[in-house]
Amino acid sequence: MDRRTFIASVGGAAALATMDANQKADALEHAMGQELEKVIMKPPIATTYGKSYQNPRRKDNQVYHMGHDDRLPKMSEKPTLLEYFDKRIGHSSHLLQSARLARINGLPEPIILACLLHDISNGAFIKTDHGYYGSQLVAPYVDEEVSWAIKYHQSLRFIPDEDIGYPYPEAYIRYFGEDFKPEPYIYRHAEYARNHKWYMSARQICINDVYSFDPNVQVDLEDFHDIIGRNWSDPEEGLGFDNSPCAHMWRTMNHPNNFL
Ligand SMILES: [Fe+2]
Ligand SMILES: [Fe+2]
Repeated sequence: MDRRTFIASVGGAAALATMDANQKADALEHAMGQELEKVIMKPPIATTYGKSYQNPRRKDNQVYHMGHDDRLPKMSEKPTLLEYFDKRIGHSSHLLQSARLARINGLPEPIILACLLHDISNGAFIKTDHGYYGSQLVAPYVDEEVSWAIKYHQSLRFIPDEDIGYPYPEAYIRYFGEDFKPEPYIYRHAEYARNHKWYMSARQICINDVYSFDPNVQVDLEDFHDIIGRNWSDPEEGLGFDNSPCAHMWRTMNHPNNFL
């Protein structure tokens, strides 16, 4: 980037003169990012409330935020999955449509639940490797097949299986470009999944996934309360407080902006 373009990007020489060295470095990074052909997303572990965000500098009389963040709905002492849907995950139309299709297609309840939960990491925790994180988030509370299917839907999404009606997603060509090739682990894990007895469970998530972005379909989470009740076990202590291997991940969703 040339000097003149950079100065224009911050609003002119006068604006640049008011910035300290850190602000100039941030502005340069931002301006250079704008010039790239690729959009680089920040994983939304800490919510930015839909706004681009630069961390403020702590002044001497300030402390860092810890605990409940007033900008978010307060979670109860013993939060359940439904409370996380209400206050953190959101009633994602994509998840609800996936579960609706799975039910219309006559799939068993655990697979309907897997469809309902398959992308919970995307919205409330982290997008990168979301199938793996999502699987770990749910593992202690569902049948093993459900968490397994959520884990492997991520790699199988990239790998077509035309024989059972799953082509390479047209959306992925738009998202990642014509020539995109996933990392080797995606091929390895998809191959492993293809030979597994639960292959079709993970594949069903992918099949229902593709048709679950219809802006005209409205689905209510209440329609799935019964299936959640029969196929999900909330821990007595509340999600995040049960010492399970993923309790810390639920706590992070509860308090996503803790300094440490
Ligand atoms: Fe996914
Ligand atoms: Fe999805």
